[in-house]
Amino acid sequence: MRLNKYIAQAGIASRRKADQLIENGNVKVNGVTVKEMGFITTEGDVVEVNGVVIKPVTKMEYIILNKPKGYLTAMSDDRERPVVADLVSDVGTRVFPVGRLDFDTTGLLIMTNDGDVANRLAHPSHEVVKTYRALVSGVLSPERVAKLRKGVDIGGYITKEAYVKVIKQVRKNTLVEIGIHEGKNRQVRKMFAAVGNKVLELERVSIGEIYLGRLLQGHYRKLKKEEIDFLKSL
Ligand code: URA
Repeated sequence: MRLNKYIAQAGIASRRKADQLIENGNVKVNGVTVKEMGFITTEGDVVEVNGVVIKPVTKMEYIILNKPKGYLTAMSDDRERPVVADLVSDVGTRVFPVGRLDFDTTGLLIMTNDGDVANRLAHPSHEVVKTYRALVSGVLSPERVAKLRKGVDIGGYITKEAYVKVIKQVRKNTLVEIGIHEGKNRQVRKMFAAVGNKVLELERVSIGEIYLGRLLQGHYRKLKKEEIDFLKSL
C-alpha cells in the first residue's frame, strides 16, 4: 500500500497532507526517514509519523447507523451523555462517525475506521449532496422555497443552491425535503430559521448514493459493495 494511503487510512491526515508530511521528513518506515513520494509499504513495516507509531488499519468496516434523538455524534462524552459509539459497540472494530448530526437530529450517519474515506467525504470539493426530511413550523410559501433554493444568509455565510421540495402539510406544519451540498454547523435549522420557519423534527435520509431506507432508529447495517465503491470513488 502507498505510504500516503496508509497514513490517511489511519485517520492521521488526508492523502495530500500525508504527502506533505512525507516530503517534510516527518515520516519514518522501519526507523528510516522516507521522503520518496509513492513509497510502497509492505506488511510488517513500522510506520512512524512525528515519532509516533501508526498502526495499520487491516479490516475496513463501513456501516450506516440510524441515529436516534438524544445521542451525541461522538465516541465519548465527559458529561456521560449517550454517544453514537454506544450503538455500534458490537461491530468488532472501532468505527468513527463521518461528519456530525445534532443531538436532536435523527437518521443516516456513516461510520467507518477508514480515515481516508472519511476525509474525502468530508471535503467540501466533493459536494456530496446530503438530503434531509424536515418538519417545519407553519406553511412554507413558494417565495420561501425559492429563497432556500437560491441561498440564504445563515449568519455571514450564504448557502449554495439547494434542492427543496414540499412533501405535504401536516396539520399546521410542513414536511419538506431539502438537499444541501455543504455541512455547516446546524445548517438546515439555520436555513429554515432564515426564512422564518422553525425546524421541529430533522432526519437525514441520504448522503450521495447511500440511503437510510427502512433502517430502524438505533440500528445499523454494513454498507453494500456498491455503496463502499461510491465512497471510494469520491
Ligand atoms: N443540519 C442541521 O441543522 N442539523 C443537522 O444535524 C444536520 C444538518
